[in-house]
Amino acid sequence: MSKKVIRFGVIGCGLMGKEFASAVSRWIHLEGLDFIPRIEAVCDKNIDATGWFADNIPTVRLVTSDYNDVLNDPDIDAVYCAVPHNLHARMYVDIISSGKHLLGEKPFGIDKAANDKILAAISANPGVLVRCSSEFPFYPGAYKLSQWIREEKFGKIIDVEAGFWHSSDLDPNKPINWKRQIEFNGEYGCMGDLGLHVLHVPLRYGWRPQNIRAVLSNIIEERPGLHGNLVPCETWDNATLACEVEVKGHKFPMTLSMKRIAPGHSNTWFLKVRGTKMSAEFTTKNSKQLSYLVYQSGDEQSWRTYDVPNVSAYKTISGNIFEFGFSDSILQMWAAFCDELAHGDKMSQPFQCVRPEEAAFSHTVFTAALESYREGKTIFL
Ligand SMILES: NC(=O)c1ccc[n+]([C@@H]2O[C@H](COP(=O)([O-])OP(=O)(O)OC[C@H]3O[C@@H](n4cnc5c(N)ncnc54)[C@H](O)[C@@H]3O)[C@@H](O)[C@H]2O)c1
Repeated sequence: MSKKVIRFGVIGCGLMGKEFASAVSRWIHLEGLDFIPRIEAVCDKNIDATGWFADNIPTVRLVTSDYNDVLNDPDIDAVYCAVPHNLHARMYVDIISSGKHLLGEKPFGIDKAANDKILAAISANPGVLVRCSSEFPFYPGAYKLSQWIREEKFGKIIDVEAGFWHSSDLDPNKPINWKRQIEFNGEYGCMGDLGLHVLHVPLRYGWRPQNIRAVLSNIIEERPGLHGNLVPCETWDNATLACEVEVKGHKFPMTLSMKRIAPGHSNTWFLKVRGTKMSAEFTTKNSKQLSYLVYQSGDEQSWRTYDVPNVSAYKTISGNIFEFGFSDSILQMWAAFCDELAHGDKMSQPFQCVRPEEAAFSHTVFTAALESYREGKTIFL
């Protein structure tokens, strides 16, 4: 089968730049696709960070510390950009304005003003595909749950809980990095880091908070700095947002929690939906399993838990009984982005990466959450 080659530049060769590149290198894991990404350019301000890419990806022909070199290259179609949050607005605007398609990272601007600039660039360049990364909905259990929401199997929604919990910040001796400094990470703190992961599925199905009451906490206020001395650790560690959602005249509560300090959790993304006809719960903590309860008048209320087959958005060479993991979710997300780039609204399955309007609404939510906590009141959107 002839395949459309999508020529990528990677800007930001840190943790996520490498995850993306390794997914591209494993493209043969996917079956039956008529498109394939190829990384041709890599850029990092710290040129040493590009070494791993140049060593491991034979298709790389441009290595640079200036991202404009990637944007000026006429033979690059699309860019994956994974840089600190303070750089999102400038770089994303420049990428979009250069006519390159963009898969950016969350939070899609360090704050609402930065996100507004990105939205303006998108409006000015309607031919450019712009999406934001969010991989957890591609876990087979999450994908199935999301499909049930799309098919409206839950009846009247009773309530929803969505969250993303880490625990690596429990250790007070963990040195400071840019993700704990307002200048680079933004005032949203953990909401900017984890919140769009939590909101992707709810917003996709129109579960937009109408009002929000937030409780934010800064648990570890200082961390070792570059020289071992204690420096301020400024950003919010944990956030719990009690929201009210209204869909077709029916109101229900939705709790969103984003935690960098959740003892015992390394990378737990979860979604729990309870409805009058069906309830379901998925967590990456127990990623093989999906639990659900189907209910009709007079039925026993009996939860069932089963091992979900290894089936996500795009078919792979893996057997159905083999386990799915984080790097598989990244691969699936990339396939969704490339599918949309290659086929537009005729992509082979319906679940897209985060759309700009969803990222924009997450900024409305997090900005309201900051105000809610500061003022100690419920904010109406
Ligand atoms: N999707 C996910 O699961 C996930 C996970 C972690 C981080 N992220 C997001 O990815 C982005 C990057 O996070 P990370 O963990 O990869 O950070 P990182 O610190 O590991 O990597 C960032 C890279 O950007 C480079 N950089 C900084 N300034 C630059 C410039 N002017 N030009 C080019 N490169 C520059 C740095 O040198 C560094 O190598 C953030 O937006 C973060 O929120 C997403």
